[in-house]
Amino acid sequence: MAASAGQGEGSGGESRSLNRVPLGPSGIQVSPLGLGTWAWGDRFFWGYGRTYQDGDLEGAFRRAVEAGITFFDTAEVYGWGRSERLLQAFGRKYEVLDDLVIATKFFPYPWRLTSGSLQRALAASLRRLGRDAVDLYYLHWPFPPRSVETWFRAMVPLLRQGKIRAAGASNVNLAQVKRIQAVLEDAGYPLAAVQVEFNLVRREIEFNGFLEYCKEQGIAVVAYSPLASGMLTGKYTPENPPRDWRRRAYPRAFLERLQRLIRLMNEIGQDYGGKTPAQIALNWVMAKGAIPIPGAKNERQAQSNLGALGWSLSPEAVDALDRASEALQLGALTLSPFPRRA
Ligand SMILES: NC(=O)c1ccc[n+]([C@@H]2O[C@H](COP(=O)([O-])OP(=O)(O)OC[C@H]3O[C@@H](n4cnc5c(N)ncnc54)[C@H](OP(=O)(O)O)[C@@H]3O)[C@@H](O)[C@H]2O)c1
Repeated sequence: MAASAGQGEGSGGESRSLNRVPLGPSGIQVSPLGLGTWAWGDRFFWGYGRTYQDGDLEGAFRRAVEAGITFFDTAEVYGWGRSERLLQAFGRKYEVLDDLVIATKFFPYPWRLTSGSLQRALAASLRRLGRDAVDLYYLHWPFPPRSVETWFRAMVPLLRQGKIRAAGASNVNLAQVKRIQAVLEDAGYPLAAVQVEFNLVRREIEFNGFLEYCKEQGIAVVAYSPLASGMLTGKYTPENPPRDWRRRAYPRAFLERLQRLIRLMNEIGQDYGGKTPAQIALNWVMAKGAIPIPGAKNERQAQSNLGALGWSLSPEAVDALDRASEALQLGALTLSPFPRRA
């Protein structure tokens, strides 16, 4: 397989001069790889405060920013607000808060029924982030009782006031994307980005027309869990399964089947100067035209994930990964904690 410029794990080849990619039609530019902060402050799923602390998260932040990462993904529900607060604290400490492109999310709890609840949720997020405006505001999930139309209509005045620079939708299906576009376009705004799970073991959007449609429309596709919640790093095996919620989401039979793909990722990594499975996984997402936002709990993970930048998998390598991953699609298992998208 032909390899382009290789860099080993965590090589120092990345700098603040990273190239930028458009965040859909928003006019905002972001680094081609972002940083996800679900684990920042989350005790329940990720073990914040037990296996990693604020100092570890600060290391991840500092390393990412030093390397030119500008795109940070958070949500009001992550650590019940702590993720947003940590972003503000680190951003101020390193004097980069205003340089970051921050995406946060509105969660449509069933007791939130009116546009006022979205306005209040945004105001609270902005306070925690220490910002006057958020760069990208997503509807986190299209949960009932209110329709997606309700929430995007509620975003329009906030777009007009400049409190939201761009609107996005997460965990939506193609029909919902079209409905959201209709609301926003009516008011003169584009849908800037969609955020969905996309990785080598969750590829529905490649097969159901979603990815193709977003590309045609110029909507940025932001790939969450691009490492399949850590499974694509290769560190979890049937002998060493994850010890938290991921054990149920990725059971032993899956981990057994996964090893073939991890072996191929290691082999391909050798062709690129010793890239790790995680770096191959992230580069694969970028090769598909999406923006990965891997979560990092410490400096080492952030540094390692940066090694996905500055080189590209060949089309043959992407093909080989595609074929090896087809046998693995998680679809049939339905054990994910996340409801499946239609
Ligand atoms: N919109 C949504 O509904 C939604 C849902 C999920 C996630 N997201 C967003 O997407 C981001 C990323 O998703 P994610 O955190 O679920 O999954 P992910 O990025 O696929 O995996 C992240 C986890 O993998 C491990 N890891 C990361 N880099 C590593 C490395 N280089 N080497 C070894 N282990 C590494 C860490 O966990 P361990 O060390 O514990 O293994 C880390 O917490 C989130 O932070 C969040 O911003 C959004």
